[in-house]
Amino acid sequence: MCGITAYFGKRECSSILINGLKRLEYRGYDSCGISVINNKEMKTVKTKGKVEELDKITKDLKGNIGIAHTRWATHGEPNEINSHPHLDCKNEISIVHNGIIENFESIKTYLEKKGHKFRSETDTEVIVHLIEEFYLGDLKSAVIKALKQIVGTYGVAVIHKEKKELIVARKGSPLIIGVGEEEYFVASDASAIIEHTKEMIYLEDCEIAKIDENGCNITDLEEISIDKEIITVKMNIEEIEKKGYKHFMLKEIFEQPETLKQAILGRIDHKNYTAKLGGVENNLTKEYLEKVNRIVIVACGTSWHCGLVTKFFMERFLKIPVEVDYASEFRYRDPIIDQNTLVIVISQSGETADTLAALREAKKKSAKVVGIINVAGSTISRECDCGIFIRAGPEIGVASTKAFTNQLICLNLLTLYIGRTINKIDTEDAKTLINNIEKVPETIKEILRTNNNIKEIAKKYYTAKNTLYLGRGISYPIALEGALKLKEISYIHAEGYPAAEMKHGPIALIEKDLPIIVIANNDLNYDKVLSNIHEAKARGAKIIAIATEGDCEISRLCDDVIFVPNICDNLLPFVNVVPLQLLAYHIADLKGCTIDQPRNLAKSVTVE
Ligand code: BG6
Repeated sequence: MCGITAYFGKRECSSILINGLKRLEYRGYDSCGISVINNKEMKTVKTKGKVEELDKITKDLKGNIGIAHTRWATHGEPNEINSHPHLDCKNEISIVHNGIIENFESIKTYLEKKGHKFRSETDTEVIVHLIEEFYLGDLKSAVIKALKQIVGTYGVAVIHKEKKELIVARKGSPLIIGVGEEEYFVASDASAIIEHTKEMIYLEDCEIAKIDENGCNITDLEEISIDKEIITVKMNIEEIEKKGYKHFMLKEIFEQPETLKQAILGRIDHKNYTAKLGGVENNLTKEYLEKVNRIVIVACGTSWHCGLVTKFFMERFLKIPVEVDYASEFRYRDPIIDQNTLVIVISQSGETADTLAALREAKKKSAKVVGIINVAGSTISRECDCGIFIRAGPEIGVASTKAFTNQLICLNLLTLYIGRTINKIDTEDAKTLINNIEKVPETIKEILRTNNNIKEIAKKYYTAKNTLYLGRGISYPIALEGALKLKEISYIHAEGYPAAEMKHGPIALIEKDLPIIVIANNDLNYDKVLSNIHEAKARGAKIIAIATEGDCEISRLCDDVIFVPNICDNLLPFVNVVPLQLLAYHIADLKGCTIDQPRNLAKSVTVE
């Protein structure tokens, strides 16, 4: 997915648009561009590469109506021609787009037959030629006609050099309008707007806005007027600054004790030993929960790993079968879902297209959908039946860290709430669970103090080409998450496996000095994990163990050990994932990787 910004007002807008793009760069960063209108003259500048390049070559760009874009390529390689904005044949109309046009080839063939000349390989360019085809002086109605021809998703911003207006519309991709004093800021998310205004209008699917000197008029694609609420967002600019850390990812790893406290704050009822979750109580009533015979968790990426961990403690406490599915698989599998299935969608951004589609599929099958979401106002958070905001604050590093642990603590609270509501968790167990949950933030603080030791270990392994991550039980998904973190930011090939599964295949990968990261806390699986370590050692592997403080035996057996505090089983994921986040971070940093914006990745994938 890409990042879009647009502006209509009295100020010179190129720096406003470009600074906004810099805030959205985590959404895509392979090429970018801008179009600005100045006295009926439209100037367009595009470049391959990062926004800072565009910034250098647009210092003298004048105008107070403009659109800009930072790209994550889906159709056509990342280069200057394929970057946005795209213009019509007469260079009068300019468009930026976030989304995918599924029927672009047939439209392109039709328009080429009509004499349109295409410059790029993108799907997006068909939109601007369609607008040109329908344009008879009214830009908005031409845009509407064009949008009605396309199948797919879009967040678009359109300008015409002759017109003092800005047209924006969405279907499937997020688009927000920031309301200022006689000026309007448009962007794919609020972080690109909040330095100018906190008054936001969230466009829904199939809504279109015309912004001109008369203000902002919003209708549907049938031109029926829509009254939109202006929402004041709580985010502040400091939250999206690096605060002296080298990378956003490192800052976000070190923010976890604080963000976890935020996630717990006011959500524990110490009188009844349950969780207070205002966002779900009206929906997840005792009467409804007693009918639930299955829980299905759907998500993508790191959020999916969070779902896998949740299965362990939710089944253990609630004795209800929990299935975890990749959202992209779930949505096309015609899943067996009904009104007694509780579906939980987990998404940091709240905009991941596959997870959104899975949500809609589940609702279509009358399931109730609970969202575990970070970004307030996001599409998934608005379409869920109810949910829990994880309060992790803006997560800018593309590799998710604090959102993962905040998702997990909120799912522990949800389990407590459901368990107490349907009498599956008794008071004693509830007291213990609450006590342990409240210990997590301080425990994470302790682990962060071992950062330098982890950095020293990273220095021994950052030249590795391959690695294996092993864990058993509730630590198996953490092995997957550790491997994903390393893959995402250091590009080292890493595989996570259930430790016992190693001998059924991946053991063939072991050669001399292959680094294997093993999660070996002193829990029920400890002895079994030790024998897996022996199997790997016997074949020359280097073992880096995550182990419980005070475990001397493992120090003798392994090449390196990262000690973590002892904590109850279902909260082990918290103490094990943070060292793996730091290990991946330091290995990638030693390799000089662009940690906050790893190649080919993006923070949330709003296209299929
Ligand atoms: C990927 C991100 O694009 O999407 C991952 O790079 C993330 O970090 C995954 O885990 C799912 O995103 P979300 O926002 O739905 O949790």
